[in-house]
Amino acid sequence: METLMLPFSPRFVVLTICAVVTALLLAIGFLDHNPKIWEVVLIPVLIFGALTLLGVRDLTQKSHAVLRNYPISAHLRFLLEEIRPEMRQYFFESEKDGMPFSRDTRAVIYQRAKMVLDKRPFGTQEDVYRDGYEWIHHSVVPKLHVDDKFRITIGGPDCTKPYSASVFNISAMSFGALSPNAVRALNAGAKKGGFAHDTGEGGVSPYHRENGGDLIWEIGSGYFSCRNRDGSFNPELFARVASDDQIKMVELKISQGAKPGHGGVLPAAKVSEEISRIRGVAMGEDCISPASHSAFSTPLEMMAFIGEMRRLSGGKPAGFKLCIGHPWEFLAICKAMLQTGIYPDFIVVDGNEGGTGAAPLEFMDHMGMPMREGVSFVHNALIGINARDRIRIGAAGKIATAFDMARAMAIGADWCNSARGFMFALGCIQSLSCHTDRCPTGVTTQDPSRNRALVVPHKIERVYNYHHATLRALAELIAAAGLEHPQALRPIHFSQRTATTEVQSFAKLYPSLRPGELIDGTSDPRFREAWAMARAESFAPAGEGFEKRESRIALRSIRATCCISASASGISPLPQGEVGAKRRVTGGGLSIDRTPLTPTLSPGEREQTFVCCASSKLAVEAA
Ligand SMILES: Cc1cc2nc3c(=O)[nH]c(=O)nc-3n(C[C@H](O)[C@H](O)[C@H](O)COP(=O)(O)O)c2cc1C
Ligand code: SF4
Repeated sequence: METLMLPFSPRFVVLTICAVVTALLLAIGFLDHNPKIWEVVLIPVLIFGALTLLGVRDLTQKSHAVLRNYPISAHLRFLLEEIRPEMRQYFFESEKDGMPFSRDTRAVIYQRAKMVLDKRPFGTQEDVYRDGYEWIHHSVVPKLHVDDKFRITIGGPDCTKPYSASVFNISAMSFGALSPNAVRALNAGAKKGGFAHDTGEGGVSPYHRENGGDLIWEIGSGYFSCRNRDGSFNPELFARVASDDQIKMVELKISQGAKPGHGGVLPAAKVSEEISRIRGVAMGEDCISPASHSAFSTPLEMMAFIGEMRRLSGGKPAGFKLCIGHPWEFLAICKAMLQTGIYPDFIVVDGNEGGTGAAPLEFMDHMGMPMREGVSFVHNALIGINARDRIRIGAAGKIATAFDMARAMAIGADWCNSARGFMFALGCIQSLSCHTDRCPTGVTTQDPSRNRALVVPHKIERVYNYHHATLRALAELIAAAGLEHPQALRPIHFSQRTATTEVQSFAKLYPSLRPGELIDGTSDPRFREAWAMARAESFAPAGEGFEKRESRIALRSIRATCCISASASGISPLPQGEVGAKRRVTGGGLSIDRTPLTPTLSPGEREQTFVCCASSKLAVEAA
């Protein structure tokens, strides 16, 4: 009985109605002898017949469970899913809503890019009492006028062609991720505004060169535009491309915040004749960016490679871009700087909030250090090895407004890059379909019929205006704070609400190391353990040999000290007891002890196992 009633259950009733209506219409058509009857019933028959066939197909297909259970009607769900982002954006999004960039932020970028009114009426829509709310302090004696042509010089003592850069530049985005017209407009806008345009790792394309704007040439692990047939780095090709006057700096990409540690593949089908020529890859084969570099594998080799990049480019500033992952790996690079005497001229720190054309969700959401912690870490590490004066720091990661810039610069950045900010200036509407090649605004597509939507002369002005108006807004902020240049910003100029009735200065949230503190031996918990684990010879931590030394103790209470030897630290002896040693508690979990190991056995515990790195001494003292 239940089976017989199934066609009339809510799940199947739509299909039943369509089938019944089709049958009735067919019956009317065949039984009615009026010759004009088909003129009336033909279209309804076709519609209900097609729906019935669709329903039968839904019922029998095997890939969508919801269609098998709700034939025909479940298509409505797919349709609504498809248009959900647009519905949200057009009808439901408030000014402060919208991810990754809020409606308000997008609006201010559009307004600045179009040079229309960018002011707001009535008062802030921010909840200034929510946790995490931040503000910049103003002065009772603001400056009356601050010039907005903020520039900094990039290039340490080993660089013979330092670059005078704007403090706001276009972040790395490859031709391939971006359309030809997008690259053209960005570069011409950069030329007009006197700022820099990073090529991204996809090589230097003719679209980068057409308009002559300053370029930062980025090379990634695929060494595009400077590679041998087997994908290895080709120094002659690198020197040839880097010697071009338009290229002002050369940048080694270690990682990108949105997908750190993840390589990339441009499928063979997308490797057009043009991309194959620009990147120096074969047509008909997948174009692979491996997850790591083949030109070096240790911190010492990496520094040597940076030195080579500077030499081969004729003395231009050479640096690298990364998102901070394991802290000891970056500190290993610092140790390699000290050991080799080779220093990069700049480091760009990308945050895990950064953008990409396409990346796995897990990488975007949970891999890598956010920009602010990353910038603060790199800034302090360089102070700690006395190298901050010679290395400039760039920051990228959702920096789109003057406040974003000021905040990043207070924490340690010398300049800021924006990728998606400039995409908005080009007309991006945050439709979030960059990975489909169906960008509605022609920004991230290789389809010529979509690329034509982006009219280059118009967008050049927008790119130029956005840059100019953002620096103007920054100048106003700086002036209100009583300063002359954003480089004068310090953490003490910012505060954050950390709880409903608690406010902390950035100086407390992002404390600074003393010059040379890492070399002298630091007790700062952000650095102490990682510095001890870092070694110039390898990216692997000095504690690699953890498992090799064990001591088993079966006593009521114990003290243990694990220290690392001078040779393992690579630089200088470290104070005893400040190295991360693993402590495994029998019957319990596994933890890392950060401070001198002075554990006590808990009641009922009979044994503990201490594991110390192979190269260190483990002293166990029973009490
Ligand atoms: C479409 C797109 C392509 C990108 N391509 C690269 C790239 O080739 N190399 C790179 O280092 N970063 C790349 N990035 C990351 C940006 O350079 C930047 O570091 C990151 O998006 C953070 O800046 P944003 O928040 O202003 O977008 C790309 C970002 C986007 C949105
Ligand atoms: S409009 Fe959409 S697809 Fe195009 S760049 Fe912007 S987010 Fe990507």
